[in-house]
Amino acid sequence: MMKSITDASFLLLLSSLLSTLKISTATDIINTTQILRDGDTLISSGGRFVLGFFSPGNSNNRYVGIWYANINNITVVWVANRENPVKNNTSGILKVVEPGVLVLLNDTNNIVWSSNMSRAARTPVLQLLDTGNLVLRVANDDRPENFLWKSFDYLTNTFLPDMNFGWNTETGIQSSLTSWKTNDNPTPGDFTFSWI
Ligand SMILES: *[C@@H]1O[C@H](CO)[C@@H](O)[C@H](O)[C@H]1NC(C)=O
Ligand SMILES: *[C@@H]1O[C@H](CO)[C@@H](O)[C@H](O)[C@H]1NC(C)=O
Ligand SMILES: *[C@@H]1O[C@H](CO)[C@@H](O)[C@H](O)[C@H]1NC(C)=O
Ligand SMILES: *[C@@H]1O[C@H](CO)[C@@H](O)[C@H](O)[C@H]1NC(C)=O
Ligand SMILES: *[C@@H]1O[C@H](CO)[C@@H](O)[C@H](O)[C@H]1NC(C)=O
Ligand SMILES: *[C@@H]1O[C@H](CO)[C@@H](O)[C@H](O)[C@H]1NC(C)=O
Repeated sequence: MMKSITDASFLLLLSSLLSTLKISTATDIINTTQILRDGDTLISSGGRFVLGFFSPGNSNNRYVGIWYANINNITVVWVANRENPVKNNTSGILKVVEPGVLVLLNDTNNIVWSSNMSRAARTPVLQLLDTGNLVLRVANDDRPENFLWKSFDYLTNTFLPDMNFGWNTETGIQSSLTSWKTNDNPTPGDFTFSWI
């Protein structure tokens, strides 16, 4: 997938889409015609969780993460691009693209991070659920068993109820908790907690 989505033709298509809608009001969902810019957020329907760009601690790097909405200081519970920050620049954007991939682009439209694709879908949407689960799904199908991708399959350093911990026989994904390197850097650190 990484190979095909870095094709020049794809990026050309993508940049023609970048002139599209900016998120204006609070929403928990975006589709392929909308983009989430650094500074925009998705807020889960019940107002529990927020998805957006953040800089941890004293870092100038930008990461896409999920945190609790109702706590004054940001407590990040999930990070997308742990190992590949948008470096020192608030021009990153997050976008859903067909056939069902979530991509994070930097200021030069290079792909910094993308989700793994499970299967193709014609109308993918990205939604932040009130459980803290970030899901890619088909627009008119919100059944959990049909999700295209979900953050709950990819633990970072925080366990939330219903996350998939350990070996998932359905998806074949092995998921474990790994500490951040430092408070300024969510790169996987020295401590991992997993089933072996
Ligand atoms: C995406 O959502 C916006 C706002 O709800 C809507 O206007 C637009 O038609 C949608 N686009 C697609 C492809 O569904
Ligand atoms: C952030 O909140 C947590 C939990 O309430 C608290 O333990 C911590 O001291 C707070 N940190 C700052 C910098 O306020
Ligand atoms: C954007 O990505 C390109 C390619 O990976 C990289 O050379 C550049 O430094 C990145 N820019 C930022 C601001 O991260
Ligand atoms: C980060 O960006 C600011 C403003 O663009 C610049 O002054 C600073 O030198 C940059 N720092 C690094 C480490 O690139
Ligand atoms: C991000 O980097 C680009 C290219 O280096 C620069 O043109 C732009 O002003 C930067 N934006 C921010 C918000 O730092
Ligand atoms: C995507 O899948 C590959 C191969 O299974 C794996 O190595 C990689 O860690 C996955 N990427 C993410 C973001 O989970």
